Formats: sequence, C-alpha cells, structure tokens
Amino acid sequence: MNLPEISTAPVSDASETTPEEQTALAETTAAPETTAPPESAPPEATAAPGYTIEALSAKLYATDTLNVREFPTTEAKIVGQLNVGDEAEAVGLTSHGWYQIRYDGGVFFAKADYLSAEKPAEPEEQLTVPENYYFASEDDYFFVVNKEKPLPEDYSIETSFVQGSYELEIVAAQHCREMIEAAARDGIDLKVLSAYRTVNYQKKLFERNVNSRMEDDGMTYEEAYADVSINIAPPGGSEHNAGLAVDIIDRNHWDTYEAFEDTPEFAWLSENATKFGFILRYPKGKEDITGYIYEPWHYRYVGVKYASDVMNSGLCLEEYIG
Ligand code: DAL
Ligand code: ZN
Repeated sequence: MNLPEISTAPVSDASETTPEEQTALAETTAAPETTAPPESAPPEATAAPGYTIEALSAKLYATDTLNVREFPTTEAKIVGQLNVGDEAEAVGLTSHGWYQIRYDGGVFFAKADYLSAEKPAEPEEQLTVPENYYFASEDDYFFVVNKEKPLPEDYSIETSFVQGSYELEIVAAQHCREMIEAAARDGIDLKVLSAYRTVNYQKKLFERNVNSRMEDDGMTYEEAYADVSINIAPPGGSEHNAGLAVDIIDRNHWDTYEAFEDTPEFAWLSENATKFGFILRYPKGKEDITGYIYEPWHYRYVGVKYASDVMNSGLCLEEYIG
C-alpha cells in the first residue's frame, strides 16, 4: 500500500476523545498484564484487555481522512493514515467501535465511524463560471494566438491555480488539474514550469532573453531578436498570455527541456493530454508554420471537443483551423 505522509493536521479520530474511548483506555491501562487476549480475536491481533474483538472479514473504505493506530484508542501511537476512498481489509471489530485492519504489512486499528462497506463517490469539482464570461461555450477556446494573431483588445479571463503558484484560465485550469491528478494516479509526476503570464511579463521575458543572448553569447541585436523570436512569443502573441498554455516537464529536466521528449512523462502526455483538452502545440516538423522550435513541453488547452481531432490529424493548429 502506498502510504501518504502522516499529516500533523487533526484527522477524524483525533478531533475528539469520546467517553467510551477514555473508559477503554483506563481499563486497558489498569488491567493486569496476564489477561489473555479474547478468543475471538484473529491470531495476529494486537489485543489489549478491556474490550473484546469479534473476528470478521470485510473490505471497507475510508469515508474521511483517518488515523491508523497501534491500539484501539486515540491515545495510541499513530502508525499511518487512510485517505477518503482508501481501501482497508478489516479482520476484526472491537466491542467499543474500532476496526482491526490490515495495514502496511501489520494489523492495526481505525475508528469504525469512518470506515464503510460502501465506496464513497469521488467528489465532483464544481466549476463556477462567472455570468457573461468571455468564453461562453467550449468552442470559444478553439482559436489561434500567434505572432500574426495577437489576443484581441477585449480579451479577459478569470484564472485559478494548477500547481504551486501557477495559474491558468479557470476552465483550462480545472482540466489541467485533472490531468495532473490522473497522471499521478498512473505514477507520473508532471511538473508545471510556466502557465499564465501577463502581457507585461511576456515583454520582460522576451527582452531579458534578447539581452542575455547579446551579453552572454555575443550576438548582435538582430541576431538575438531573431533567435528569441523562434523561442518566445511577442507580448500579447503568446498562448501563455491567453492563460491557455502550460509548460510541463518532469523533475529531471528543469534545464534541458528538449530531453523531456524521452521521458515517461512525455509519453503519458502524448497518450492522454487530449482527453483533458490539451494539444502539443509546437510539433516537430511544423516549425515553419508555427514559427517556433519544437516544444515537447508546451501544451495548449483547445477544449476536449477538438483536442483529439487536432492531434490525430497530424496538423498544427494554424493548419487545422486554417
Ligand atoms: N514559447 C512560446 C512560443 C511562448 O512564449 O508562448
Ligand atoms: Zn510554453
């Protein structure tokens, strides 16, 4: 079982100690050491005196974040934690309301109140889109932003977080979060390197890169400008300014983005990004049309409705939209 880090935040059983638990604890402490474990307990049970354990065999699910403890009392050492929806194999139930469960190769206890035979439904994230929002429908996300087609004057979005301090437009953000979570469930750790950028920030980014090519690489202004232009969009001409592009890499390629192409993370995105409405926006072989180098890290939200068709067509967005 994959153990989550034990949180110091209070979780279900720790928030209160019921009188029953206090009694159980007192009885446990006061009972003579020679008291034999109850006969009904499974052979591997960690049984303490003061209560009985009825043996059972049941597949249960955590209905809340829940501590797993060495003994059936909130005073006992926490050995781990179950998150909502985590499965637990129960092998016993104490007379004072604790399941005895298999956990991480041992047998421990968790409060029965927060374990259920019914798997809790996945919580649905509710997205609240403001009234008269700039994007009235899914189709509205399907447009080209590039050097020739900068964002319109009236472009206006709401943003929300995707990872750390990185934000995207609210609908794109929700899809991106879902994508990152789905990848994590497959053991794929996607790292966001850049997301929404203001037009002002894009301007600074562009200029900083021109200057560094002149200062560090000895390029003339024209050379530096031309080189930056195939890597970084002009202010207002970037999908990042639209809040619809996210740069994603894996933890080993903070500096060498091109090498991202050879990672399991890239393979996962190639297989799955379209399901969440994202396309690889600057593909290999389309440099002359997109105006940019191949960017295996740059993903553009175009909407779930169109993403697969665009990727399957083998065309870049400029060609597909025409
Ligand atoms: N790197 C892409 C082209 C951008 O700056 O938007
Ligand atoms: Zn990008």
